[in-house]
Amino acid sequence: MNPEIYAGVDIGSANVICVVAEADEHGVLHITGAGQAPTSGSVLEGVIVDLEGAAEAVSQAVEEAESISSWKIIDTAVSISGSHVRGFPGRGTVNVEREDEFVSGKVTWMDIEDAMETAQLIKLPRESMVLRTEKCGYTIDGSSRLLRPPVGLRAERLTADIYMVTADRTAVLNLEQVILDAGKNVSAIYPAASAAARSVLTPDEMEMGVVLVDIGADTTDIAVFHSGVLAHLAVIPGGGESITRALQQIRIPRHEAERLKREYIDLAGRSKTGNREITVSSFGGRSTIPITDEVVNEIAYRSAGNLIGDILCELKQAGIQESDLPAGIVLSGGTSYLRGLSSVASRIIGIPVEVGKPGGIEMSSSMIENAEFANAVGLVLLSHEEENEYEKRKESNPLGKVASRIKGMIRKLR
Ligand SMILES: Nc1ncnc2c1ncn2[C@@H]1O[C@H](COP(=O)(O)OP(=O)(O)OP(=O)(O)O)[C@@H](O)[C@H]1O
Ligand SMILES: [Mg+2]
Repeated sequence: MNPEIYAGVDIGSANVICVVAEADEHGVLHITGAGQAPTSGSVLEGVIVDLEGAAEAVSQAVEEAESISSWKIIDTAVSISGSHVRGFPGRGTVNVEREDEFVSGKVTWMDIEDAMETAQLIKLPRESMVLRTEKCGYTIDGSSRLLRPPVGLRAERLTADIYMVTADRTAVLNLEQVILDAGKNVSAIYPAASAAARSVLTPDEMEMGVVLVDIGADTTDIAVFHSGVLAHLAVIPGGGESITRALQQIRIPRHEAERLKREYIDLAGRSKTGNREITVSSFGGRSTIPITDEVVNEIAYRSAGNLIGDILCELKQAGIQESDLPAGIVLSGGTSYLRGLSSVASRIIGIPVEVGKPGGIEMSSSMIENAEFANAVGLVLLSHEEENEYEKRKESNPLGKVASRIKGMIRKLR
């Protein structure tokens, strides 16, 4: 029998990352391969702008992962980002059919499905489509929110709360096309923030209240969890690339600005930096420019401060309070490596901020523990989880229809 193989492809503004995992007989996932390739301008602010370039990068990353894992990938889960990816809550209520005049009826799977469908009845702009529908809980006759479907309980009315994530239809089609052009099929599409959250956050943190902030090159993907469910999802423009660009203000080439950012910046320790001189090459590399670390740290601090301000603004606009987030903020993505970023973010936002790393999976290579891999690792974990759930539902109840319809939506696009 062929083992269960799962693949995840994260197409970022800087890199494509592919992870392949295999489920063992106990259902535990083991990473068997990983690959990475630069997107070289084919993805801007998380959105594909050059099909050929992006497909080339995907092929390269996938081939590397395939050669390590020695499995050929046929289907892959893929993440989507960009500020067109948005989330909002939905609520649907249905009357439960009474047994007779005096006795209220029992909630059935059909009622659950009807309430979920009613919750999804919203008018979307023509260019948008529903990408995911997360279940957030149920209420019967004024009870507090129940996380499990209250099937069999007697009730007059049933309310389902959901959280929907929508995306621009064209961006989704382009993403699917890139994967097809790279010779693979798309098995599922997940918002990048949900994927990163799945591999980085613990169930305890999600229960208490936490924010996952994945800061990449050009986008910052945000997912807020409370009571174990997704409470808010957004993508804001900006990431590590804006800090690199800010450093170029001192008239240096991009690669030198990138080197400064990785080697010399320490946002938290900037008050301790003296006037240590750093030598960087000028544009064209014909001369060198002397600069102090105090100056470069100040530039990086201002740029990072703007980004942190935007994150804070997004949380405030969504009505999320400090008290909703006892587990604080967990960072992932390549920019989480920027020295001092977490302590400066914690000071500005006023809650604990930590750097997370992908987990919840067996991995032999330490490369995958890198924060840039959070998203791709999360994709294989989510795919495995969804597959298990789908199989279980197919066996036990007709709600399996919902799962297949959500999966089917991706196919219907073509
Ligand atoms: N050690 C480091 N210090 C500071 N920044 C770093 C470091 N390593 C990587 N980065 C930054 O991380 C970013 C790339 O991260 P990542 O691979 O998560 O982005 P991406 O997923 O391709 O992009 P996006 O999610 O924005 O579409 C780049 O801006 C890079 O400069
Ligand atoms: Mg990313």
